[in-house]
Amino acid sequence: METTLVLIKPGGVERNLIGEITRRIEARNLQIVGMKLFAADRARVEEHYSEHRERPFFKDVCDYLTSGPIVAIAVRGTNAVKAIRTMMGATNPLEATPGTIRGDFALTIDDNLTHSSSDAEAAERELSIWFPEGLAK
Ligand code: CDP
Ligand code: MG
Repeated sequence: METTLVLIKPGGVERNLIGEITRRIEARNLQIVGMKLFAADRARVEEHYSEHRERPFFKDVCDYLTSGPIVAIAVRGTNAVKAIRTMMGATNPLEATPGTIRGDFALTIDDNLTHSSSDAEAAERELSIWFPEGLAK
């Protein structure tokens, strides 16, 4: 069993995709073990994206993540990290396969609707940022 993090970015919340995204996660037989909608504070977003601190898009992606409410979801299941990454699709939606969230609902890299942890180590680190209180189950 693995637990991974999904963030529905402000664009996904704005476009009323919370239901569609959580429906797909549950349909895959992955279990939602934590979920909350809130306005992310800048410090936590910067910590979340700390690996990208020196990248040219760092400021823009942090601006985007703090531009409106987000939904943080903890997802658990067999091979959950890889399964979720694949379901979300390639970072650039133009390269994302149809059938993925990004391939079905996004057009641009700066508004690619979701975040998901890249590996088990990232998942553990990111879950502790967004669910410091721990998970309900
Ligand atoms: O989200 P993912 O792990 O697929 O991609 P990343 O390489 O870890 O980049 C994090 C986020 O930064 C992306 O999801 C995009 O929102 C943003 N980004 C961007 O706006 N422009 C880029 N050239 C690369 C990433
Ligand atoms: Mg990433």
